[in-house]
Amino acid sequence: MNATVDDPTSLALEAAAQIRTQAGTASADLALVLGSGWKSGADQLGTPVADLPLGDLPGFHIPAVAGHGGRLLVLTTPTGKTALVFTGRTHFYEERGVDAVVHGVRTAAELGVTTLVLTNGAGGVNPAWAPGQPVIISDHINLTGASPLHGPTFIDMSTTWTPALVALAQQVDPSLPTGVYVQFRGPQYETPAEVRMARVLGGDLVGMSTALEAIAAREAGMDVLGISLVTNAAAGVTDQPLDHAEVIAAGEAAAPRLAGLVRDLVGVL
Ligand code: HPA
Repeated sequence: MNATVDDPTSLALEAAAQIRTQAGTASADLALVLGSGWKSGADQLGTPVADLPLGDLPGFHIPAVAGHGGRLLVLTTPTGKTALVFTGRTHFYEERGVDAVVHGVRTAAELGVTTLVLTNGAGGVNPAWAPGQPVIISDHINLTGASPLHGPTFIDMSTTWTPALVALAQQVDPSLPTGVYVQFRGPQYETPAEVRMARVLGGDLVGMSTALEAIAAREAGMDVLGISLVTNAAAGVTDQPLDHAEVIAAGEAAAPRLAGLVRDLVGVL
């Protein structure tokens, strides 16, 4: 097949080439995608190498939603690794297609990244988790009906959420619970019946991101760690209605703890 400028691999190659030029770095070791509530400590994760507006890089888009940032920070971590820190992501509900959703993951793979940390804000299905609780993702259920894979690409998903990284995150903060993340398409929040369904299926967290990115990361052979911030009880778990502004506010309230957690994690990755 002839590559065209906008096939997903060529676009990721183009973006990677531009990052190499602009950051003056040949490759990277790890990448972090910082979701709602997770961005505040981004600048403290290491020595800055470059700070690039995502919207200027091939194939990336400025996140449309309040609370979702739009920079790519390139940093040298305290252990001497080069990290790509994405302070924004494209969501499936933005209707740019799945390739746009996983473009950051593919770009990171082109730059040689082997460890990916995905973070997000999510609704808590488990009633024991109050807003502000970070939860390590142990597995996921993809209810979007979509996949970033093209053609008959039969990749193994048995250890998508790398067990050694789950263990490492639990060493960093032994109080962190683990849970199964269920990705819905959104952008509407779930109905109480959908949340009950997620619970019956074995889900602990509901959200609108992350699972599709994890699939692309596994295709690229990356190790993947995921952490959700519970920003709210999922619909019907309490009698509180859901409100995007409150979801963002819960992320902001948890920001200091999350910044510390990400910094500690980056210190051992
Ligand atoms: N559902 C889906 N996505 C979310 C939620 C939720 O309850 N909270 C934050 N992101």
